[in-house]
Amino acid sequence: MDDRARPFRSVLYIPGSKERALEKAKTLAVDSIIFDLEDAVSPDEKANARVLLAKTLSEGGYGARFQLVRINGFDTEWGAADFDAIAAIGPQAILLPKVGSAEDIAAVAEMLDGRPGCNQTKIWAMMETPEGILNAAAIARAPRMGGFVMGTNDLAKELMCKFRADREPMLTSLQLCLLAARAAGIAVVDGVYNAFKDEEGLRAECEQGRDMGFDGKTLIHPAQVAVANEVFAPSEADVDLARRQIEAFAEAKAQGQGVAVVDGKIVENLHVATAEATLAKADAITALAAEVA
Ligand code: COA
Ligand code: MG
Repeated sequence: MDDRARPFRSVLYIPGSKERALEKAKTLAVDSIIFDLEDAVSPDEKANARVLLAKTLSEGGYGARFQLVRINGFDTEWGAADFDAIAAIGPQAILLPKVGSAEDIAAVAEMLDGRPGCNQTKIWAMMETPEGILNAAAIARAPRMGGFVMGTNDLAKELMCKFRADREPMLTSLQLCLLAARAAGIAVVDGVYNAFKDEEGLRAECEQGRDMGFDGKTLIHPAQVAVANEVFAPSEADVDLARRQIEAFAEAKAQGQGVAVVDGKIVENLHVATAEATLAKADAITALAAEVA
C-alpha cells in the first residue's frame, strides 16, 4: 500500500511482553499496531519481551496492518539492545520515545543506514516533552521520518497540566505537532484515552481529534478499535457530498464557470481537491479493511 494513502485510524498499543495480546492482535481490525517495549513493559520483563517480540514479528501474521515497534530510549539501559534486536528483523518502523530534537532522529537514521533489511524502515517520534513539541517542525523534516504519535500522558506530566474533557491545556502542543506534521507531509496520530471502558468519552475525544486534523488515535484496548475506525473514516454523508461536489464542479467547468454551488455552499478547485482526498481515503480504508478482515 502507498504510504501516503495509508490509513492510521486505529493504532493499538500492545505490550511486547503479553503473548496473548500479541496473538489476539492478528485478528483485530486495526490499521496499525505499536508493539511496545517501553512503558507498557516492566523493567524485570524488558529482556524477555525483547526476545519474544523479535521472534513474534519475524514469524509474521499481522498482514497489512502497519507495524511500529516502540523501543526504550537510548538513555536507558535497554535502548541499544532493543534497537539491535529490532533492526535485525528489518522493521517497518521504529518509534522513538521522548524525542527532543531532529538530531535524535538523525542519529537513529544513521544507525539504520546500511543495516540489511532496513532500507525502507521509517522512524516515528513520540511527541511528549516540552522540548520535543518546541522542535516539532525540525523533527518532522528529519531523515526517515514517517509520523508523530502524541504522547499525551507524558506531556500532561511534563506540562504539569490537568486532564480535561476539552483538553484545552494541551491544545497548543497538539496543534504545534499537527502544523509540523502537515508542513512536512508525515502522519500524525492523537494520544490515548485512558478510561478504556468509557466509550462515550472515547468517542468525544476521537471526534475532537478528527476535527483538529489527526489521522487517527492511539488505543490501549481492543474495545476502543471500532469507535476510532468509525470516527476517523469519512462518513457516508461525507462521501456522498464529495461525489456531488466533484460532479457539480465538472458541470460548472463544462459551462465555462470556475465555481459551483452544492447545498447552498460554493465549490471551488480547492474543495474539489479535498473531495477527491475524501474519496481516496474511503477507498484506501476499504482496501485495508478487506486485507485485515
Ligand atoms: N492489544 C491486544 N490485545 C489486548 C490488549 C491490547 N492492548 N489489551 C487487552 N487485550 C486482549 C487481552 O489479552 C484479552 O484477550 P483474550 O480474550 O484472548 O484473553 C482481551 O483483549 C480482553 O482483555 P481484558 O481482560 O479486557 O483486558 P486486561 O485486563 O487483560 O488488560 C490493560 C487491560 C489496560 C492492562 C491492557 O489492555 C493493556 O495492557 N493495554 C496496553 C497498555 C499499553 O500498551 N500502554 C502503553 C501505551 S499508553
Ligand atoms: Mg511516553
